[in-house]
Amino acid sequence: MKRLNILIAASEVVPFAKSGGLADVTGVLPKALKALGHNVIVVMPRYYIIDKDHNGLQSLPGALGVPMGVIGEEWAEIYEGRLPNSDVPVYFIENHHYFGRVGLYNENGIDFNDNDSRFIFLSKAAMQLCKKLDFKPDIIHANDWHTAPMTILLNTLYAHDPLFADTASVLTIHNLQHQGKFFKGAMDVLDVGWEHFNQYELEEFDGVNFLKGGIVHSNAFNAVSRKYAEEIKTTEFGWGLDWLIRDHEAKLYGILNGVDYEEWSPAVDTMIPATYDSDNLGGKAICKAELQNEFGLPVNENIPVIGFVGRFADQKGISLIAEAIWNMLGLDIQIVMLGTGERWAAEFFSDIASKFPEKFALYVGYRNDLAHRIEAGSDFFLMPSLFEPCGLNQIYSLRYGTLPIVHATGGLDDTIENYEPYTGRGDGFKFYEASADALYNTVKWAVDTYVYDKGGMEHLIRNGMMKRFDWEVAAKGYEEMYFGALEARFGHRHR
Ligand code: ADP
Ligand code: GLC
Repeated sequence: MKRLNILIAASEVVPFAKSGGLADVTGVLPKALKALGHNVIVVMPRYYIIDKDHNGLQSLPGALGVPMGVIGEEWAEIYEGRLPNSDVPVYFIENHHYFGRVGLYNENGIDFNDNDSRFIFLSKAAMQLCKKLDFKPDIIHANDWHTAPMTILLNTLYAHDPLFADTASVLTIHNLQHQGKFFKGAMDVLDVGWEHFNQYELEEFDGVNFLKGGIVHSNAFNAVSRKYAEEIKTTEFGWGLDWLIRDHEAKLYGILNGVDYEEWSPAVDTMIPATYDSDNLGGKAICKAELQNEFGLPVNENIPVIGFVGRFADQKGISLIAEAIWNMLGLDIQIVMLGTGERWAAEFFSDIASKFPEKFALYVGYRNDLAHRIEAGSDFFLMPSLFEPCGLNQIYSLRYGTLPIVHATGGLDDTIENYEPYTGRGDGFKFYEASADALYNTVKWAVDTYVYDKGGMEHLIRNGMMKRFDWEVAAKGYEEMYFGALEARFGHRHR
């Protein structure tokens, strides 16, 4: 099989900068592709929070010129690092004006007003970097709206550049809700020509839509689960782009994310108080007691603990939890939440925590170590997302023997198998209607199973812990898409 030169660009990459699952994916997929024999480089911003010394970043000599249309030429410093435990190079684009800030996309909940220029800069810098490194990509791989402009640049400003003569582009949609919509003036910074400002390419309601341009201009694009790839073709989940996605469905793939089991496995996790595995669950009881203790809840092994980790955003179904909470608090359970985002949610759940200190505990903020301890110490993991492109926490939960309670949407539906009491099959509890009643009834079902059906619980836990979502499988899916993109662009077979 042909060895491909692949450039993966993203706005966030674990362990350097992360706000959600996008970073988990871009931090591991490159290594998995490398293991399949491909040559991969990663490009991301050098945000202010990324410490150069701590991450061992080396400066590359000479600044990189980035043509920014009406703004004129801007300059980037380039730093080189490695993805941990690998020799995959990561190139960091530094520019004080664009990336020398604390937040990735916003501060105090307010988006930066130059996000269009910031990510046009990243996208163009990634293209320019190929020239500087003399890296001749077979594939440029954009992720979400931030780097989607690369796919447009390839077809326009770089269309006749010999370095990109054999290059095809792909776009991964991690979340269709966020499309990168801006004032049309961004066209003059992108500088690809106003003829592309039309409703079949970059224009939407007289503004620019980066993701829309990426869907049109990429040679292949994918959603991060099969079910989500189907859902985004419908008006319910299409966020106004379903018609466009249907138009381009011939090049649409659904590729489920994998999980980094070196980071998310109770057998090797260094952030939990005791390790354990499916053949010896003793450590899990210690994790549960410590979690109850850490969150100031009564330490009691017989009360089921339900965990939640996630962004406080509508997507995650926090309004359903808020609505169902009163009924849930009537059950003999404890709830532990970790999240940050919407202010109303932080305030609402803090209020619940102060009213029900014996049953409900909350940490508002972003804490990776706590996320690990909640995965390990809970009996159930609640993920009632209204939509979910893939979702990673429910998959982590399976590995930790923590049974997911999920709304059957997108990747949640693809990864969790509902409990069948008569056969003992399944690894979680699903509900099919996004309502507070359905959520409550399913939590009640899970709690009843915990109390009255110990054998069933054991089956479910074992089934979940044995299940694997390896990156190797996902990387093969991406490989397939890359060859598909090359064939779509150049016609002949490439593998
Ligand atoms: P999304 O990308 O939509 O936020 P995913 O389930 O794909 O959802 O990934 C979320 C990732 O971010 C997981 O690795 C999860 O552990 C992590 N995460 C989310 N919120 C927090 C938080 N408040 N503290 C620590 N980790 C968090
Ligand atoms: C997005 C989605 C999430 C997915 C992640 C990684 O943030 O909301 O469902 O798991 O990207 O692909």
